Amino acid sequence: MKLIGCEIRNFRNIVDTAAEFSDGVNVINGDNAQGKTSILEAVYVFARGRSFRTNKESEFINFTAESSKISIEYEDKRRVSTMTAEYDRRDRRKLYKNGVRILKTSEFIGNFRAVLFTPDHLSLIKDAASERRLFLDIAMAQITPSYVVNMKKYNALLSERNALLKNPDAGSADNRLLFESLAEQMAQYAANITRLREKYCAKLGQTVCRYIEEMTGGAEKADLQYEVCVADDISQIKDTKQTARLYYKKFTESLDREIYFKTSLFGPQKDDIDIKLNGNSSRKFCSQGQQRSLALALKLAEGDISYEVTGEYPVYLLDDVMGELDSKRSEFFMNHLTGKQIIITCCDAEEKIKNADRVINVKDGKVI
Ligand SMILES: Nc1ncnc2c1ncn2[C@@H]1O[C@H](COP(=O)(O)OP(=O)(O)OP(=O)(O)O)[C@@H](O)[C@H]1O
Ligand SMILES: [Mg+2]
Repeated sequence: MKLIGCEIRNFRNIVDTAAEFSDGVNVINGDNAQGKTSILEAVYVFARGRSFRTNKESEFINFTAESSKISIEYEDKRRVSTMTAEYDRRDRRKLYKNGVRILKTSEFIGNFRAVLFTPDHLSLIKDAASERRLFLDIAMAQITPSYVVNMKKYNALLSERNALLKNPDAGSADNRLLFESLAEQMAQYAANITRLREKYCAKLGQTVCRYIEEMTGGAEKADLQYEVCVADDISQIKDTKQTARLYYKKFTESLDREIYFKTSLFGPQKDDIDIKLNGNSSRKFCSQGQQRSLALALKLAEGDISYEVTGEYPVYLLDDVMGELDSKRSEFFMNHLTGKQIIITCCDAEEKIKNADRVINVKDGKVI
C-alpha cells in the first residue's frame, strides 16, 4: 500500500494545500501548531473512517468555513485509486471512491490501510479495557470486512436492549419475550465477533511476544490473552456454536440484574486483552519504559498482521513519536519499518531524522 498524495481543504488550520509522498520515509516538518498532525489526521480518516482526534466531524472543519473536503490518491497491488470525503457543519458527509459515492462506512474502511502511532497509544497498556477494544476494532475493521458488519449489527441490537432496560416496565411479560428474542440474535453476532477477535489476538500475542523478546534480548517475556465474559479461558470454548450458546445463557441469566441496573452488563462490549510481562499484569506492574515497549510492539504487530492477511504492508503514520520514545526504542521502531512507507511528523527534522526520503515543510497550514 502506498500513499501517493493528498489534497486538503478547510480541514483544521489547513485552508487549501496538497502534498505528494514518496516511498520510504516522508517527514512532515515544521514548528508547533503549523498543521503537521492535521495532515496525518486527514489522511487517517480514510483508514479509520473517522478522525483519531475527535468524534465530531464539525470540529475539524476550519473555523471560518462551512464545509471541508479531503482526498487521497493511493496505490495498492491492484491499481491506483482516489478516495474523497466531504463534511459539513450539520454533520452530513459524503464519501467517494474513484468518484463513486459510498453510502456505508463498512465499504469505505479497508480500502486504504494505515497504522497510526501517536504518543496517546501508551494508553493501550495503562488505561481501561475500552482502549484495547478500540485498538482491536480499528485494526480488525481494516482487514476483516465481516468484523465491521457483525459489530454494526450487534451494536444496533445492544442499543435496542439498553433502551428497553431503561424502560420502567422492562420486566413485564411482553418485554421479557422481547429480551428473549434479542438474546437469541445478539448471541449469534457476539459469538462471531468473539471468534474473530480470538483469532486476531492469537496472532497478535505471537507477534508481540517476538518483538518484546527481540527488544529486551530475551530478558522479558510478553503474554497476551483475549478475555471474554463467557469463559475463564477462551481456549475452553471449541467453536462458534458453543460460543453463541454461552452468550445466550449469559444474556438470559443476567436479565434480572440488568433490569435492576438498567444496562447490559455482559457481551463483547466488555471484553479486554490481558497483557502480561514476565507473568505480571502490564497495566498494574509495568514501568513506563516497559509500557512504551509493549505499545510499540502492538503497533508493529498491527502492521505485520495486516500484511499477513492482505499481502501488503499498510502505510505507517507516526505522530510525534520522536518526542515520546527514547533513542533506543525509536531506532528499533524505525529499523523495523525499513522498506515500508512511513509518514512521520516532527519538529527540527534535520536534527532528528537522518534517513528521510522526502521532507515536507509545513507552515501556517500550507505545504511549502
Ligand atoms: N477547526 C479548526 N479550525 C482552524 N484551526 C484549527 C482547528 N482545529 C485546530 N486548529 C488549529 O490548527 C493548528 C495546527 O494544529 P496541529 O495539531 O496540526 O499542529 P502541529 O503542527 O501538529 O503542532 P505540534 O507540533 O504542536 O504537534 C493549531 O493551531 C490548532 O489550534
Ligand atoms: Mg502535532
